[in-house]
Amino acid sequence: MRKWCIFHMLLFISMLSFAAVHGQVSYSIPEEMTKGSLVGNIAQDLGLSVERLKSGKARIYTGNSEEYIELKRERGMLLIKDRIDRESLCGQTMPCALHFQMILENPMEFYTVTVEITDINDNPPAFERGELKYEISESALTGARFVLEKAIDDDVGVNGLSSYALKPSDNFDLKTIGRGDGTKHVEMVLRKPLDRENNEYMSLILTAVDGGEPQLSGTMQIIITVLDANDNPPVCLKPEYKASVTENAPIGTMITTVSASDKDKGHNGKVTYMISKSGAAGLFKMDPNNGELTLNGNVDYEKRTLYELDVQVSDPGRLSDACKVIVDVIDTNDNPPSINVMSKSHTVSENMKPGTVVAMLNIQDPDSNNNGKVMCILNENVPFAIKSTTTNFFTVVTDSELDRERESEYNITVTCSDEGVPSLSSSVTLTLHISDVNDNAPVFEKRSYEAYIVENNTPGLSIFTVKARDADWNQNARVSYMLEDSSVNGVPVSSYVSVSADSGVIHAVRSFDYEQIKDFQFRVKAQDGGSPPLSSNVTVKVLIQDQNDNPPQVLYPVQTGGSVVAEMVPPSADVGYLVTKVVAVDVDSGQNAWLSYKLHKATDRALFKVGLQNGEIRTVRQVSDKDAVKQRLTVIVEDNGQPSRSATVVVNVAVADSFPEVLSGLTDFAQDKEYNDNLTFYLVLALAVVSFLFITCLVVIISVKIYRWRQSRVLYHSNLPVIPYYPPRYSDTLGTGTLPHVYNYEVCRTTDSRKSDCTFGRAASQNVLIMDPSSTGTMQRIQSEKSILDEPDSPLEVRQGTRENYGVRQVVFRLA
Ligand SMILES: *[C@@H]1O[C@H](CO)[C@@H](O)[C@H](O)[C@H]1NC(C)=O
Ligand SMILES: *[C@@H]1O[C@H](CO)[C@@H](O)[C@H](O)[C@H]1NC(C)=O
Repeated sequence: MRKWCIFHMLLFISMLSFAAVHGQVSYSIPEEMTKGSLVGNIAQDLGLSVERLKSGKARIYTGNSEEYIELKRERGMLLIKDRIDRESLCGQTMPCALHFQMILENPMEFYTVTVEITDINDNPPAFERGELKYEISESALTGARFVLEKAIDDDVGVNGLSSYALKPSDNFDLKTIGRGDGTKHVEMVLRKPLDRENNEYMSLILTAVDGGEPQLSGTMQIIITVLDANDNPPVCLKPEYKASVTENAPIGTMITTVSASDKDKGHNGKVTYMISKSGAAGLFKMDPNNGELTLNGNVDYEKRTLYELDVQVSDPGRLSDACKVIVDVIDTNDNPPSINVMSKSHTVSENMKPGTVVAMLNIQDPDSNNNGKVMCILNENVPFAIKSTTTNFFTVVTDSELDRERESEYNITVTCSDEGVPSLSSSVTLTLHISDVNDNAPVFEKRSYEAYIVENNTPGLSIFTVKARDADWNQNARVSYMLEDSSVNGVPVSSYVSVSADSGVIHAVRSFDYEQIKDFQFRVKAQDGGSPPLSSNVTVKVLIQDQNDNPPQVLYPVQTGGSVVAEMVPPSADVGYLVTKVVAVDVDSGQNAWLSYKLHKATDRALFKVGLQNGEIRTVRQVSDKDAVKQRLTVIVEDNGQPSRSATVVVNVAVADSFPEVLSGLTDFAQDKEYNDNLTFYLVLALAVVSFLFITCLVVIISVKIYRWRQSRVLYHSNLPVIPYYPPRYSDTLGTGTLPHVYNYEVCRTTDSRKSDCTFGRAASQNVLIMDPSSTGTMQRIQSEKSILDEPDSPLEVRQGTRENYGVRQVVFRLA
């Protein structure tokens, strides 16, 4: 079109050189006028009349060009014949004009007509494509330029493309850059970085506007896809995670899960979890892919109650975030209480007051709360108590009296248990020794002792051993024995016995004579070695046992050296006539004093017999005249001891009616005539002497009794041995050798029967006793039998009963 236009103009110029130019006219019309619109009144403008046009057959000459304008000759006007589009006529060429000639004939002339076509805004700017797609990474830097397609507006001048606008213009600026050829180049410049996470797809409208009136515009859509870049770090969902795990939980126990998110997409959004290698990292394990935190070791509440783990979350681009996991360790009752003995006594004295502290303990339980609350108890049956002084401190105290003698050692078991469920406990045993205090006196094995010793012992013989025990210990229990001062019959007891201090053996100091002392008692003291010492005493009664050390003594008939005493038997005496009675005593006792009488020798054995038990000499047959006047009998008196002892006595018997007969008949018997003559005198004298002696004896007996009574009071009413009473010895004070002493005696023999068969012999009343001057009296003892005499009320039967067992025969002499 443009080429064509140029060509046409050149043609038009060349034509001008051939024809006579009479004038020219120019018009200016806008394009796109409707057909028939008036362009101009050419007749008038050229000063030609319509007739001339008619006559000259005026016509438009456009050469080969298209005729857009026609000539109306009748009216002399130029009208629009066809639509004129300036853009197709001239394109961008300015100015755009139609040049043609109007040719007249008659005369031939031509006029040049120029019609300038002015532009009207009939074309909007337009883009070649309706949309443009871009993929831009969000990491694109600001200032990045993206060339846009430019719009084309066919209009020219002011109606041409004027400007561009981009909407929305958040991220991009629009920039137009003029080029050398006058065209404009359009770019978008990244003003603000893109964010895929925020806006992945963007749609922009680029609008191009022209400058016409009214303004026209064209648009193009720019679709931007924002490509992801790893521009977002992973972010923990919570800055801090709290979790708990019980101690001793097995490895692999799930604790918690840490989550983080990454806004980036795909690979850029993949989060890796990691616990930073600090502190207790080895105890925990984190799954790098899903953030699961599990236990990887053994957690112990007592070592650490809380773990703070730093967790790092990162994406492949090494962008990262950190958060924290706080793991509380929950206590379980896994520790028994531990008992520490802070101090303890190994030994306490048995006299300690209740409440004495014997041990101090410190109890530790590292568990918490009830798992760590500890209670302590002691084993049963110990006299101790446990007390809590302050938390975790306990004291063990005595809570009752101690007695080493009952229990010398205690094993005190302290058991401490916590209040966890189940409860754990531990225990410790304290061994406590109780030390001795001298709180026990020695105690004899018996309340009293009786010991027996046979008389005639050797001095120094050990009689007996006393033994006392002391419940205390060691020195406090070392018993020594000693004799307590007392006297026996006025003699210090120490001259009778001695006690071995260590062994308690009692020794006789002297030889004892049963006939002098039958028993005695004393006290032995046992004393321990404590400080102060304690002691006790015991009564020891020593009973002396008889030995057959005395032969029987014949009291009657009295044996004289030279004189002859004869018993008279009348020749008419019957069978069983009691001739006389041999009286003997034995100072021993019991069997040793049990006497029996036997006929040893006799002139006529067939005439007499001797009572085995009573010593009575009786006739066995009728005495006859044929029998010898003088009969001589020898009687043996034997005791029953082992071995037995005996005495013999000679009894003279005269078979006669009267004493003178005897004298005359028996020359043997008549030895001392003078003696017989003075018999009466001596009898009177003897009676006086005997009376005197009797009174003296009475006085002595009474004194002795008083003394003994007082003595018994003094000696704690104890059964001290009775001081035997020895009657004074009878001696021949007159020196005559004759003791005209009449005994009225009785012999009482207890036998099996309850009643006492006392036979009273009155020999002396009939018979004459003639004593040899050398003979001594009989020592008579009144001793145990005295109780019978003293206490006539006492039940005789009982005494008989006891004596019978020994078969003791009692001989009681009563001075007549
Ligand atoms: C105390 O324990 C010890 C050692 O176990 C033991 O030999 C002793 O007999 C016990 N004592 C008592 C009084 O139980
Ligand atoms: C002997 O023991 C008794 C108690 O058994 C006591 O009363 C007495 O005083 C003691 N005698 C001496 C001399 O210690």
